[in-house]
Amino acid sequence: DGAQLALTPPMGWNDWAHYQCDFTESTILANANALVSSGLAAKGYNTVTIDDCWMRTARDSAGNLQVDTTRFPDGMPYVANKVHALGLKFGIYEDAGTTTCGGYAGSWNHWTQDANLFASWGVDYVKLDGCNLPTVAGQTEVQTYQSAYQQMGAAMKASGRDMVFSESAPAYFENTADWNDVLGWVGQYGQLWREGYDVATYNASNPTASRWGSVMSNYGYNNPIHRYAGPGNWNDPDFLIAGDSGLTAAESRSQIALWAEMAAPMILSSDVGSLSSSSVADLGNSDIIAVDQDSLGHPGYVVSQNGTLDVLTRPLANGDRAVAILNRSGSTVSASTAATTVGFAGGAGCSYQVKDLWAGTSSTTSGTFGASVPAHGTAMFRVSPSSAACGAGVNAGQISG
Ligand code: GLA
Repeated sequence: DGAQLALTPPMGWNDWAHYQCDFTESTILANANALVSSGLAAKGYNTVTIDDCWMRTARDSAGNLQVDTTRFPDGMPYVANKVHALGLKFGIYEDAGTTTCGGYAGSWNHWTQDANLFASWGVDYVKLDGCNLPTVAGQTEVQTYQSAYQQMGAAMKASGRDMVFSESAPAYFENTADWNDVLGWVGQYGQLWREGYDVATYNASNPTASRWGSVMSNYGYNNPIHRYAGPGNWNDPDFLIAGDSGLTAAESRSQIALWAEMAAPMILSSDVGSLSSSSVADLGNSDIIAVDQDSLGHPGYVVSQNGTLDVLTRPLANGDRAVAILNRSGSTVSASTAATTVGFAGGAGCSYQVKDLWAGTSSTTSGTFGASVPAHGTAMFRVSPSSAACGAGVNAGQISG
């Protein structure tokens, strides 16, 4: 109906990275309740999305998707209503191909039927994955994807219900010559899109296996493509697994800080009821969420990289900058950067108030600032110039992307 959707990056929860297909309706509702009782919903994590494996492999005789009633004995409208009754939004997964990545019925050539079904259920958010698209005579693979995502986007709009559209298409063109082509059109149809590979999933038989490498990989894919993002259009480097097993406390803070710095969707994928109180506090850090949700919608970008430390700067709506310093190394580093490095004008008479968003402490500098950053940690600061003249141009200092 013409409403502008997702003017700031979507936030919420999705089952996939923690549970894969090992879930039922009670898993979803327990996590929805935990979002509320932990306080994370009130911090903005407000959309509960059911990923793959909720449907059967076959459609019914009328071509409608069928819910797996073993997992969802009360049906999907029941779950949607329960989620809505908690004050949350309800999201669902489908796939643009003939079958989902997990082998269940896909949406291929059922765009209007599926979009209308989702709207009738009260769905607020659709993630459309990109496995198993058929080869279409006379079309390149990219054209087939573009047509599929265009048609689903149009069907969702025609449904009459506002539904945020998460497109997985770019993730299927990673490291190909078509990467920028795909990133160039997704924003016309939807509000966010996956890129990078899947963040490493939780593995109950090896719960302590490190998942840090996958977080760094997705950060690496995401930060150079910031030019595609802005209000209503977000690059999605996949789920926040911060606080789940497989990351240290410092690594979890890094993922939260870097995702916020990059204006990424903040979609938790963990067992919310099992998060420690310190993880809940880190995920709910209001200063960091405010960076993620800043209304300017300009993602951070790298201004300095030396193999150990990455420094990123993000222009904010009020003229402040959010600065992140990632320590890639395996030991603590005393890290610093300078106001001019992160894009500010500097110069005589300029000073900068610096708030350390993890420590909560503030100081004033005319030049350098920093913190002790633990192994694989990320320091994060909000830096306010003493005057507009001491401020910065939007892309000042950019070295990549
Ligand atoms: C792909 C997606 C994941 C998840 C699974 C479900 O791998 O990238 O996020 O949706 O499919 O099968």
